[in-house]
Amino acid sequence: MQNNSHPQSVMMNMREKEKYIENFNFPFCDESDKYEKIAKIGQGTFGEVFKARDKSNPKKFVAMKKVLMDNEKEGFPITALREIRILQLLKHENVVNLIEICQTKASQRNRYRSTFYLVFDFCEHDLAGLLSNVHVKFSLGEIKKVVQQLFNGLYYIHSNKILHRDMKAANVLITKNGVLKLADFGLARAFSTNKSGLPNRFTNRVVTLWYRPPELLLGERNYGPPVDLWGAGCIMAEMWTRSPIMQGNSEQQQLTLISQLCGTINPQVWPVSSQDFVYIYITVIEEYIDVLAKDTASCIVGTVQYDDGSAMV
Ligand SMILES: Nc1ncnc2c1ncn2[C@@H]1O[C@H](COP(=O)(O)OP(=O)(O)OP(=O)(O)O)[C@@H](O)[C@H]1O
Ligand SMILES: [Mg+2]
Repeated sequence: MQNNSHPQSVMMNMREKEKYIENFNFPFCDESDKYEKIAKIGQGTFGEVFKARDKSNPKKFVAMKKVLMDNEKEGFPITALREIRILQLLKHENVVNLIEICQTKASQRNRYRSTFYLVFDFCEHDLAGLLSNVHVKFSLGEIKKVVQQLFNGLYYIHSNKILHRDMKAANVLITKNGVLKLADFGLARAFSTNKSGLPNRFTNRVVTLWYRPPELLLGERNYGPPVDLWGAGCIMAEMWTRSPIMQGNSEQQQLTLISQLCGTINPQVWPVSSQDFVYIYITVIEEYIDVLAKDTASCIVGTVQYDDGSAMV
């Protein structure tokens, strides 16, 4: 007969577990109370951002980005781990500097769950805020300086084989000395040109719609640095227009706005495969005929695809 009883030393009752967690010290991870929170400065999709002061050096300000753990059942979120790994790799004048990760102590008060923070050097402004402030004027020289730093930052991250994938004015920070820092690597990922000759299959559900390049809207999954350059171009234009230049409210409308600005997408400028048209077709069907069941849509697309796409062109 099997003996299900565990040895006493291995078994931990609830109280012992709580004590263990309470006394556990994460290596290389200081406690967040070394910083004094001053104000909440951002409410991002993945958590809150606070301005804080370093208690050991009151002149030093930091930004603390909280790691959202609410929906986590399987420990530390993989998306935050990815963001941290990328930020640890990137060290450049024009990329926001990650100082460290810190945590609150687990206790009864937080139901024995630590909160983790990404701690950054503090930047006084973000570009979206500056552009929406009518009192802030940019001279041509200042615009050139901003754009130069934007491209320097992008060149650096791309040279390190990282794609940002969320370029927008709100993710571009500027210090009080006018130094630009690329920020928010929450959607970033590493890339490589596939040696096996097989195309990459990255998700195309990235980049805020108004800054999303046509290849992603057309469903491309084998993309690279140009996706960030499109966003950088939109930001550059915004330095004059002061608001995002293409504010679509659907993927379809975004493509229309792009065509109106850059001309119709045709095989000369965009060597399309029938697959791309299949994607546009699905988008149109899903958006305008939403009564149509998804598999009906794929059935239609399958039929047209069978016709080598020519029926759609
Ligand atoms: N180092 C920093 N210094 C000053 N402000 C910062 C810093 N990092 C972030 N912020 C502010 O907090 C906001 C949100 O930060 P971030 O973009 O990294 O988070 P997010 O959760 O991914 O946000 P979102 O979903 O809004 O893009 C930024 O737009 C900026 O205003
Ligand atoms: Mg952001």
